[in-house]
Amino acid sequence: MAGIVTHQSPEFSLPMRYMLTSVLGFGLFALDLLSESVGLGTGAALSPAIVALTHLLTLGVLLSFVMGAVYQLVTVAFLIPVRGVKLAKVNYYAYVVGVVGLWASMRGWFVPGLLGFGSLVVLSLYVYAGIILSSLAPSAVRGPMRWFVQAAHIYLILAITMAWLMVASFTFGILSSWYTELLATHILLAVSFFSCLIFGFTYKLLPMFTLSHGFSTWRQNYVFYGLNAGIWLIVAGVWTRWLPIGILGAISATAAFVLQIFDVREMMKKRMRKKIEHPIRFTAVAVAFGATTSLLVFVFLASRSPQSVWQALVGFYLLGWVVLTVMGYSYKIVPFLIWTKRFGGQAGRDKVPTIAQLLDLDTSRLMFVAFLAGLVLLTISIGFTWKIGAVLGAVLLAIAIAQYLVHMVHVLDLRKLPKELKNHD
Ligand code: HEM
Repeated sequence: MAGIVTHQSPEFSLPMRYMLTSVLGFGLFALDLLSESVGLGTGAALSPAIVALTHLLTLGVLLSFVMGAVYQLVTVAFLIPVRGVKLAKVNYYAYVVGVVGLWASMRGWFVPGLLGFGSLVVLSLYVYAGIILSSLAPSAVRGPMRWFVQAAHIYLILAITMAWLMVASFTFGILSSWYTELLATHILLAVSFFSCLIFGFTYKLLPMFTLSHGFSTWRQNYVFYGLNAGIWLIVAGVWTRWLPIGILGAISATAAFVLQIFDVREMMKKRMRKKIEHPIRFTAVAVAFGATTSLLVFVFLASRSPQSVWQALVGFYLLGWVVLTVMGYSYKIVPFLIWTKRFGGQAGRDKVPTIAQLLDLDTSRLMFVAFLAGLVLLTISIGFTWKIGAVLGAVLLAIAIAQYLVHMVHVLDLRKLPKELKNHD
């Protein structure tokens, strides 16, 4: 696999600390999901425990992994070094303390904790987004991939600003009459952050992992404009409460996902690598799930569906599109980083394992199948408030996550990792 590590890459410990945190957070999420599965099946949307669960997933698992991966991948995709690596390393601790405190405060709905730890998380995410945007500024790489990554970080800044305003609204009593709009915009822009980032990096990672060449790129501009027009139209629909704009936005976003499916299909067709590994296969399935979610936004807006259905949709979007994609890419990124750190200097010598020997990717198939089964069952059960189905779905997801953790812990080798994280390289 050609380079996700270059001479411009940051120290190993920067991406790896975030990724390790994400792996540990995923284990905690599986336990929390099991304990809250009955609540999920009884339509307890927006109860403190469910909001805490959502943020354990989005902040503790997804954003942690994504931040680590972005610090690594921007150097490869945009041929620039990361600015302010020292600041980024200190920022990691602020982020972790903030997320743990915010999660605990959300569980008990402890408002001073929400304000204090929420502000810390928001501040550390501003720092992260600032580092990435300023690192990108001098890059000579232009085009849709760059637009997506830049737009993603602007959405992140806006989404967490909305979150802070929500917390401020119930702490200081300001903006309370706009609470529903702030919440909808927060959710929408936060998920748009993940979508833009995945769309952008897919144009780099998928050809890299499948050795694809000569695919057409003309659709990428339309994917960008379609998705972003869709996002802003839905936001406009939320604030004006004018349904047709929201519906138009959902159609535009769905069209963007469909175009991305064509792009993915063409990249797969023009690949040089014969075998498509399971994790990569499932990132392609995830794009189809993303498209399905956008289409369902359109259907549910048009039919004015109840809150449990929206809760199911948010869960499906996060798990079926964002988590599935992140898990798929992590099977390629984590072993590569570990291999480069442990064996990169000795390549070609005897007894140096190949990356494939660090982790047999074929073993991930069962995990993905269990994950998909759990996801479908949980989503349907949340939507129809079916308790037993929600519990069974959560159990299947937890089993899949447990297997994922076994794979990751095997690659990371926790006996060696702490020492490697301390070394400066
Ligand atoms: C990219 C990161 C984030 C994502 C993807 C995200 C996602 C969500 C989602 C999906 C909900 C709806 C509730 C649910 O489904 O359980 C929500 C609500 C909320 N989020 Fe976030 N969030 C993020 C970051 C944050 C941050 C940093 C804060 C704190 C400063 C925060 C504070 C809140 C609050 C206060 C609510 C509303 C809870 C309620 O009204 O009961 N979020 N968020």
